[in-house]
Amino acid sequence: MLLLLLSGSVPTLSESDRQQLDALGPVALGKDGSLHRLSNWAELTAGGRETAGRLIAARNEKRRMRLLEEQARAAEPEPERTQARWSLRAFGAWLTRRLRRPAEEGPAIDFAPEFVPQILDGRKAATTRYVGVDGEPLLSRLKVGHLANATCRTCSGRASAAPFARLRISRLERTRVDRLNGTLAATEGLGSADELRATLRRFYPHLRDADPVRVLHFALEARPGEDEQEAVALT
Ligand SMILES: *[C@@H]1O[C@H](CO)[C@@H](O)[C@H](O)[C@H]1NC(C)=O
Ligand SMILES: *[C@@H]1O[C@H](CO)[C@@H](O)[C@H](O)[C@H]1NC(C)=O
Repeated sequence: MLLLLLSGSVPTLSESDRQQLDALGPVALGKDGSLHRLSNWAELTAGGRETAGRLIAARNEKRRMRLLEEQARAAEPEPERTQARWSLRAFGAWLTRRLRRPAEEGPAIDFAPEFVPQILDGRKAATTRYVGVDGEPLLSRLKVGHLANATCRTCSGRASAAPFARLRISRLERTRVDRLNGTLAATEGLGSADELRATLRRFYPHLRDADPVRVLHFALEARPGEDEQEAVALT
């Protein structure tokens, strides 16, 4: 199984195969290279699925890297290529493609204290920032796939720049203040577009309706000191 998952030359899945796999929920990679589905995926809410999906993706990537290292050390022989093994092999390749992303480090993203718990429990999965010279120009360097420290400089009792989480940038959007919508507000853990605009103006008081803003979508990569074992209960 391990070799199947990690080996190089493989056939690709058709679009309908992939959709069927998506309906079953994300695939979790076990420490030994085995693959599992979440037994309660069908019962999860959309929000629960999003959170579980993010946590599993982050853990899968760590385990995949660990397994690759183990495999390099062990250098085991190729398994037989039976029909069943080929489909597992294709499945492994699909999983690997889904997980493969660069791990470059971007600048830290600072958050207000009220957002810290929301980020840690997955209710907030995006942040809108003004990256103009009078805003946070450093954040314009963040690219999709970057890892970034999430800090809270105004949280009391913390070392100034100690990160409370590691985030992986999953999507970037450019939009304008007057085009912010309720869907994005919900992704940010806020009630409405107006609430999102009001929140933005707390941080950038001079922001006008026509100003460009950047939306950073992120996945929670790790909480400090967290044992990734416990992030998601698996079958
Ligand atoms: C992210 O946080 C870690 C741990 O505190 C630190 O070693 C690293 O330098 C930070 N990276 C950036 C870009 O701030
Ligand atoms: C709402 O805003 C988000 C973030 O900019 C965007 O991705 C989405 O397409 C918008 N939705 C609608 C219905 O305009």
